Amino acid sequence: MKIFLDTASLTEIQEASALGVVDGITTNPSLLAREAGDPETILREICRLIDGPISAEVVATDAPGMIEEGRHWASLHPNIVVKCPCTLEGLKATRALSSEGHRVNMTLIFSPTQALLAAKAGARFVSPFVGRLDDIATPGMELVRDILQIFDNYDFDCEVLAASLRHPMHVVEAAKMGAHIGTMPYAVFNGLLKHPLTDIGLKKFLDDWEKARKEMATKAAR
Ligand code: E4P
Repeated sequence: MKIFLDTASLTEIQEASALGVVDGITTNPSLLAREAGDPETILREICRLIDGPISAEVVATDAPGMIEEGRHWASLHPNIVVKCPCTLEGLKATRALSSEGHRVNMTLIFSPTQALLAAKAGARFVSPFVGRLDDIATPGMELVRDILQIFDNYDFDCEVLAASLRHPMHVVEAAKMGAHIGTMPYAVFNGLLKHPLTDIGLKKFLDDWEKARKEMATKAAR
């Protein structure tokens, strides 16, 4: 499974990029609004840090506006993927932008039928929002499973990008069911590596090593 970070924070992206395991970035208007500075400059900088798909979302709600914004985002860097919301206008914009050769990530997907229409409209990524469904007592992971099953039956050139992943178990479940991509906040990404037994085990190895060295040094000094 490809790992994307769901953030517009250059500090977080810089730290994570050094590990070489981050395959792309998803941003959204809320995430960009949290950062100081011009969104265009931030997106350009993200593209410099990570060599992979970088989602930039349109904020227009009508198809002509989305298409114009999408073209503009796409002109910033070849790695930019235009994010369009899964509305009627978003679907029109997705068809138009994908016909022009721009990659579209159709976002705010909450049903398998939305994902099916997005793929048919030419979206290269669909983003089912797992956590937001869980928030309303609806099992978000089942949506990911349904979309994967549907896409398996056909030949869509469209990846399932499990989004709104809120904790490491979401990541485990998405990977187990074969989601192509999982996008997550930096805190969740960090949680993928940490394990208390690793820390305890490492401490014991180092303590034993140090103790043995001291004993050898004492023997040699006699
Ligand atoms: C994905 O593209 C979205 O930006 C994101 O995953 C939304 O996550 P949230 O529901 O935790 O805000």
